[in-house]
Amino acid sequence: MTILVTGGAGYIGSHTCVELLKAGYDVAVVDNFVNSKPEALKRVQDITGKTFKIFNIDLLDEEKLETVFINNNIEAVIHFAGLKAVGESVHLPLKYFHNNITSTVTLCKVMQKYGVKNLVFSSSATVYGTPEKVPIDEDSPMYATNPYGRTKLMIEEMLGDLYKSDNSWSIALLRYFNPIGAHESGLIGEDPNGIPNNLMPYITQVAVGKLKELSVYGSGYPTKDGTGIRDYIHVVDLAKGHLKALEKVAAATGIDAYNIGTGNGYSVLEMVRAFEEASGVNISYKITDPRPGDVAICYADPAKAHHELGWRAEKGIEEMCKDSWRWQFCNPNGYETKNKMELGEN
Ligand code: NAD
Ligand code: WQD
Repeated sequence: MTILVTGGAGYIGSHTCVELLKAGYDVAVVDNFVNSKPEALKRVQDITGKTFKIFNIDLLDEEKLETVFINNNIEAVIHFAGLKAVGESVHLPLKYFHNNITSTVTLCKVMQKYGVKNLVFSSSATVYGTPEKVPIDEDSPMYATNPYGRTKLMIEEMLGDLYKSDNSWSIALLRYFNPIGAHESGLIGEDPNGIPNNLMPYITQVAVGKLKELSVYGSGYPTKDGTGIRDYIHVVDLAKGHLKALEKVAAATGIDAYNIGTGNGYSVLEMVRAFEEASGVNISYKITDPRPGDVAICYADPAKAHHELGWRAEKGIEEMCKDSWRWQFCNPNGYETKNKMELGEN
């Protein structure tokens, strides 16, 4: 029995493949490498000492996707594949609706056809829009503030309709907060294209000398130091949450949403300080205007995942920063770099 991982070469997908292989699952990855590199999967094999099937397929290609289901004994699907750049989605909404929503429709059609009805879906805290109160629980109001977020919301609703139409589906919607960090080996991590949009990869690229200084987006928020607060979660904790969700969907039919966060909020300046302490590197920064669309404070109430999945985050902010730094330091050019540790430089 095999777990199909769509988007398995990506940041979260690659870390989840490591955990699945370590736990003894067979894995098949479908990825078209639109935002990732095959090298990530090679390194997953290096870390685990295990091999697995890799299909270079666009999820929109229904015929090719069918061959994966025909030729492999797929038991469940973890669906990471999707585009995730909020700003790009504002300019190119149709690209996002097509790639994220149509591909999920295609995936579900094929799953239904081949009788595979266990699904773990990558949703996001973005479905809570601008939260009215924190910590955010799963029953908080949901709405989208940009096309990317709308794809997550629409997919969640679509999966709800699918379950209503056929109660033999078993679906977990995992709403991730802010994943950072990397595998402790320093072999896999986040490898954004171009200038990073997100805080931690920006900080690590300043630290390694690729970028001059961090822009801190706004210092007038109603928070302890005026900068935005988020719930940062170690990507390995996040990956482990998928294994717990797989157990849940295997045990009972239904559809449920779970917040995957730590429940702790850190401000931008706290993150800068935590990174400096963990790495020993000074981060230059300047305060700039707020980024349009940003919320002041966002952190999870993760109690439901704890009670119903038996999962909770274990790694703290220091480990997140240390592991982000190890990855960036060893791979200054991401997967384009020959890992420095292989060269004996660390
Ligand atoms: P990522 O871009 O690193 O990984 C996504 C993978 O999907 C990539 O390897 C990409 O090549 C692949 N992909 C995209 N469209 C595809 C298609 N049509 N066919 C086949 N493969 C395709 O992103 P990530 O950070 O690993 O995120 C994984 C999932 O989690 C995404 O759905 C994302 O929206 C969601 N999510 C991410 C975050 C975050 O901050 N990283 C937060 C919340 C939710
Ligand atoms: C974190 C904090 C910024 C960059 C985004 C998506 C969300 C989800 C996760 C997928 C904020 C500040 C950032 C910088 C800064 N992705 N910041 N300077 O905005 O919480 O969430 O990624 O689902 O949908 O919107 O994450 O890392 O961009 O920002 O000051 O250069 O860091 O203002 O307070 P965000 P982020």
